[in-house]
Amino acid sequence: MRFGVLGTGHWARTTHGAALAAHPDVELVGFWGRDRDRTRAAADERGTAAFTDLDDLLGSVDAVSLALPPDVQAQVALRAAVAGRHLLLDKPIATDLRRADALVEAVRRHGVASVEYLTYLFQPDVTGWLDRMRDLAAEHGPWEGGVFRWAGTIDAPGNPYGASAWRRERGGLWDTGPHALSIVRELFADVVRVSAGRGPRDAVNVALEHADGAGTSLSLTLTAPAGTGGSFATVWGPGGRHDLPRFHGTPQEGFERAVDRLRAAAASGGPDALDVVHARGTVAVLAAVEEHLARPDRATAVPQP
Ligand SMILES: NC(=O)c1ccc[n+]([C@@H]2O[C@H](COP(=O)([O-])OP(=O)(O)OC[C@H]3O[C@@H](n4cnc5c(N)ncnc54)[C@H](OP(=O)(O)O)[C@@H]3O)[C@@H](O)[C@H]2O)c1
Repeated sequence: MRFGVLGTGHWARTTHGAALAAHPDVELVGFWGRDRDRTRAAADERGTAAFTDLDDLLGSVDAVSLALPPDVQAQVALRAAVAGRHLLLDKPIATDLRRADALVEAVRRHGVASVEYLTYLFQPDVTGWLDRMRDLAAEHGPWEGGVFRWAGTIDAPGNPYGASAWRRERGGLWDTGPHALSIVRELFADVVRVSAGRGPRDAVNVALEHADGAGTSLSLTLTAPAGTGGSFATVWGPGGRHDLPRFHGTPQEGFERAVDRLRAAAASGGPDALDVVHARGTVAVLAAVEEHLARPDRATAVPQP
């Protein structure tokens, strides 16, 4: 499978590009970006070609991997799907449900394969733990609750995402929210209702109600104070209380597994479990949270003395 990387930022270069260049069974044809010099620099790092015309790149590959701001990704991925190219997407696929729906429709109509790279779900430490959690739930009964805290520190000196415009604009809800939901959605029934409140800066605290009556909560931010970033998650139910383990693999190793999942989906013609339809489900939850946060009457005021 011949791949092109769409995007020239830190993640595009150090994860998508690095993993594709290292993968023994695929070819990295080149990078596409809107800035000629940055595209050339990314391509030179991997000894591959630089494209500033998207159609030129689409004409040279079988698949694209996208590392672009979400709403740019949604539109560019749609063009790639219409051109018949398979899609290795990053999270979230959009920050707008209509754009996510349009991408789902294009993927369906043009019969291309899709996989969303959800970092945690491509790490054996995490997938092994999820398997154990599913076994415990099958034996003892469904999980009843969980807390999921995902916090980045983009204000820390040297953080590679400090200048990322979409992160500054959309905050942790849209950047770390997909990671938290990637675990939630593996273990809990569909999210049917949401409510949420704000914290400092971009911080958002979310309550999720699930179809089977379970309730989970998310604490999301990108601007945690220095030294307080990181993620943790705990679930509980009749099968006990359990903490999500740390993973020890690299994002590049995980990305190579995602490449293999896309190749398998393209070869079989069947959908991957983490395809664009699954990715759209995450956008639906996050968009509902955003809608709730925008309501002037969303919270009951506490009388102050
Ligand atoms: N799974 C993970 O753990 C993980 C980690 C990091 C990132 N990601 C994902 O990777 C994706 C990209 O994130 P990022 O941090 O790389 O974002 P970013 O730094 O904000 O932007 C990345 C790239 O997008 C380009 N860009 C911005 N607007 C554009 C436009 N209108 N047309 C074409 N290119 C445009 C920028 O190009 P210029 O150089 O021309 O400005 C830059 O190269 C996101 O989906 C993010 O969630 C995932």
